Amino acid sequence: MSDLILVIDEGTTSTRAMVFQRDGGCVATAGAELTQHYPEPGRVEHDATEIWAKTLAVTRAVIDQVGGAEKIAAIGITNQRETIVFWDRETGQPLAPAIVWQDRRTATTCRALKEAGNEPMVQAKTGLLLDPYFSGSKIGWAMAHWDAVKTAGSRLAVGTVESWLIWKLTGGLHITDATNASRTALMAIGSGHWDDGLIELFGAPRSALPEIVDCAGRFGETRLFGAPIPICGIAGDQQAATIGQSCLQIGETKATFGTGAFVLSQAGPIPPTSRNRLLSTIAWQIDGRRAYALEGSVFVAGSLIKWLRDAVGLIGTAAETEALARSVPDNGGTFLVPALSGLGAPWWEPEARAAISGLSFSTGKAHIVRAALEAMAHQAHDLKTAFAADGVDWASVRIDGGMVANDWMAQDMADILGVNVERPKFAETTALGAAMLAGVGRGLFANLAEASAMRGHVETFTPHIAETTRTARLDGWRSAVQRVIAPD
Ligand code: G3P
Repeated sequence: MSDLILVIDEGTTSTRAMVFQRDGGCVATAGAELTQHYPEPGRVEHDATEIWAKTLAVTRAVIDQVGGAEKIAAIGITNQRETIVFWDRETGQPLAPAIVWQDRRTATTCRALKEAGNEPMVQAKTGLLLDPYFSGSKIGWAMAHWDAVKTAGSRLAVGTVESWLIWKLTGGLHITDATNASRTALMAIGSGHWDDGLIELFGAPRSALPEIVDCAGRFGETRLFGAPIPICGIAGDQQAATIGQSCLQIGETKATFGTGAFVLSQAGPIPPTSRNRLLSTIAWQIDGRRAYALEGSVFVAGSLIKWLRDAVGLIGTAAETEALARSVPDNGGTFLVPALSGLGAPWWEPEARAAISGLSFSTGKAHIVRAALEAMAHQAHDLKTAFAADGVDWASVRIDGGMVANDWMAQDMADILGVNVERPKFAETTALGAAMLAGVGRGLFANLAEASAMRGHVETFTPHIAETTRTARLDGWRSAVQRVIAPD
């Protein structure tokens, strides 16, 4: 049997495919950018047809690179979470735009549900909070506002992105894995099943939801590329990165700086309960047994740099930011709070908006760019404080994601967090985690511990900032955030 594993990594801004060997070596890659649609302020949509077409194209490309589908033992799928797709079971076509996780259109609904006293119940059942981030309120909004969705009846299928891709790959299998289901706010994470009370609260159509399955196993096969290939691994991208970073022991923590920044700390077999507005989520489910994680979700990370480049024109490329940050001795008093789509954990202020403060005539482009990079360490530090208040002290943090190629940022992270920051030499940990799950599902590995041999070497950044400088940075950030949360 071939032992190559193909991974589809469908992220917020791009769709990629990679092929891994059993030892973790990556032998083929292909990627395509995704169009972001911003129909109104606070609204973010994707075209599910484009997601599928680009996924198909990049998957074909890597299969060609390795010499055909018969070389592939298994497919692993990982994806942007919470984004929700609506399609017609008979035609297999989308009925409406996909509503993206960053979309804030249900802020009013969530506030009303919160004011009506529902949040403790939602948190107890789902581990989540009442925020537009999660899929439940987005589904309810589509059912109330989009005629094609409202009137589709038994033809309606609803699912997160992996669910949509699996339907298309297999020609009609409607499943979701437990990690993605745990982000909808419709699943009781202790039981692993959809919850009728939550379905009613958000106005979601029960019969349109997929079946919830494990993250590793045999979940049908695709015949679109020649020889049939089984789908053997499925997980939301942040959970996949947690696995790819080998955070398998309680307390091991990873931070991914992609479009947003997501910190997950392994919590073991019992769902953690946060008293500090963090999330409790499923890290994986294998053989019906679940491992949980405590999560801090920050909405804006790499998307800030993209925005500075594409919308503001302050930089030409993301790579320039490192030299610009190094070109000034400090931020010159400038702080950038990147609440471009509200603030996530630990603040949860959907209507907060971004701000740059501390500007003077001596402020230059480099200070603003440096403040943008510094915001990453500051947001991570806010999470570290919340995790510690929940009893989870980070001994070190394993970082990954597109942004962490920036050495200056990785060092700043260690300085501000005050712990060692480990960066794997192979940064595609999300895809690696999906490959590990698929390897377990296909029987190439007995379990995740065995599969974690796929993870390669790491570099370590150790803190060496002066304590007075660190305190001044943290104080400056705290007042900048206060101005965004509670403007005069
Ligand atoms: O929860 C949203 C998250 O899954 C998005 O991930 O990698 O597209 O930033 P990414």
